[in-house]
Amino acid sequence: MSRYSAITGWGMCVPEKVLTNADFERMVETSDEWITSRTGIKERHIAGPGETASTLAIAAARQALERAGIEGKDLGLIIVATVCADYPFPSTANLVQHALGAQCGAFDMQAACSGFLYAASTAHQFIANGSVKHALVIGVEVLSRVMDYTDRATCVLFGDGAGAVVLSASEEPGGLLGFTIGSDGARPELLWIPVGGSAEPITHEALEQRRQYVQMQGSDVFKFATRIMGPAMEEALARAGMTAAEMDLFIPHQANLRIIEAASKRLGVPPEKVFVNIEKYGNTSAAAIPIALCEAVEQGRVFPGAHLGMVAFGAGLTWAAAVVKWTAPVGPRATEREEAPVTRAEPAGVGS
Ligand code: UT7
Repeated sequence: MSRYSAITGWGMCVPEKVLTNADFERMVETSDEWITSRTGIKERHIAGPGETASTLAIAAARQALERAGIEGKDLGLIIVATVCADYPFPSTANLVQHALGAQCGAFDMQAACSGFLYAASTAHQFIANGSVKHALVIGVEVLSRVMDYTDRATCVLFGDGAGAVVLSASEEPGGLLGFTIGSDGARPELLWIPVGGSAEPITHEALEQRRQYVQMQGSDVFKFATRIMGPAMEEALARAGMTAAEMDLFIPHQANLRIIEAASKRLGVPPEKVFVNIEKYGNTSAAAIPIALCEAVEQGRVFPGAHLGMVAFGAGLTWAAAVVKWTAPVGPRATEREEAPVTRAEPAGVGS
């Protein structure tokens, strides 16, 4: 029997420390004007000492579990989408599983910025075929640990954070109604970390050349993104039996405001139906869509019955899109009023 998988819980966590464009003006040859006009980014959150993929993921997951009204032991599956796992192995999902007191299978999934939608689509299969009742899906990145802070072409773009959702089996039509995932691995060097895997282990020479950090051919990725996002979203919509005009809110991957605008235009989605928070977080890769979803709910832009369209692209190259019919009540969490607002630490040296 096929079942629906509804989003019943959601949560996010970003580090306190913020790096603004003005901070980058002091670090590399760049300007607030360049970063803002080319990307839409104003600031991004950066992990401090002791903050890792698992600590951010666990914090986001706890919120999502509370929202869903379940505990870790109720989970049947945990998937963590990340390219910034705490360790090459074991998986960050293992660490999350233990911290939450869950007793279920847990694994990491690597599809770069498309990772969260890849993971949500995978979790949906476990729910739809009846083998899992509640699945936890997390997108988390600590990209600051793999950024070259002497490379202005990449370091200004990315930020750290985590977003999580609980997907729960439901008989009520809704939840994940359609999705698509895609891959074109012809040119991995468009966006990659060349060193540290089995192709090229870390050597002193590689470290001297700073090849353990993210490298990107930005304008090629830009062209790919503007080409793929519209058709990918349309494919997921078609699988849900819908058109772009029927989306109540479009939540695209937050990589570049110009890419978001191009995709929205291609799909004919008016600006008031497009969710954008890139100015606050930069590109948080696999965490970007679940963080955006959390903020959209918080801002009252998501309501029961709303159809949400989500689309992402990233290293690989990969892409993914999903259509969700929202079914959960959207009131505040029990503990929400007691929480302190996010405080902003004084900018400190990166990686310190
Ligand atoms: O989730 C997937 C992750 N990746 C992406 O989404 C990236 C997609 N690509 C992009 O968003 C854009 O290509 C960038 C924002 C990375 C770059 O914007 P662009 O309009 O494509 O600029 P460009 O790469 O063509 O560079 C234009 C100029 C270059 O100088 P010259 O060669 O024209 O003299 C760069 O060196 O801008 C220069 N530049 C900068 N200048 C000031 C590159 N980075 C910076 C910077 N500050 N931070």
